[in-house]
Amino acid sequence: MSKPTTSSPLSQDELKTLVGQAALQYVIPGEVVGVGTGSTVNKFIEALATIKDQIKGAVSSSEASTKRLQALGIPVFEAGEVASLSVYIDGADEIDHQGYMVKGGGAALTREKIVAAQSKLFVCIADESKLVDTLGAFPLPVEVIPMAAARVIGQFAAMGGTATLRLKDGQPLVTDNGQHIVDVTGLKIDDPLSFETVSSQWPGVVTVGVFAHQKAQVCLLGTSTGVRTLTF
Ligand code: 5RP
Repeated sequence: MSKPTTSSPLSQDELKTLVGQAALQYVIPGEVVGVGTGSTVNKFIEALATIKDQIKGAVSSSEASTKRLQALGIPVFEAGEVASLSVYIDGADEIDHQGYMVKGGGAALTREKIVAAQSKLFVCIADESKLVDTLGAFPLPVEVIPMAAARVIGQFAAMGGTATLRLKDGQPLVTDNGQHIVDVTGLKIDDPLSFETVSSQWPGVVTVGVFAHQKAQVCLLGTSTGVRTLTF
């Protein structure tokens, strides 16, 4: 008697591959596509390479993504060379049911927000672990000018958060823009729009990792039963 076949649940890596491939349906032939940063986007870049002859190229949100795109033969344009982009594809550290996100786990939040702002449609690709009711459980990345780090850490403490300087090899991590990152825990971000508006204005803050003004309009969520499309 043959054993019934059982399918094992997809790994997080397989879910990332699924949503990376699913994002191809939003890429418009003949155009330049906005490309984010991170392990999920790396899957999208691999998928994009299979249709590279059908697109003009990409605007990239980090040195890391630029390297990957170029290594696969996809031309990379500077943000300023392209007036606007039809679509920006990027991952998230958290996304809520309104399409508001926390981003910056890969320290690329500033360029990500710039490319998102020049794009008409933000398509977030994520595995289902990223979907949350309220933002704030993932440590919120904030890019700061180094001389402001201590002051910004104090400002987050005053609102009940604990901010720490992100380190790499024992030294403060330096972003693609030559700045530092603080990661803030202990926040419950009930009103992402006003949180982003207020904290973005503190002196020395370059970019806050809350993406509310540049939220996603679509999320392709990798789940055990396949790709779920959320629209906001
Ligand atoms: C990088 C980001 C990424 O989109 C975010 O960290 C998600 O990354 P991953 O797909 O590796 O989980 O904001 O700055």
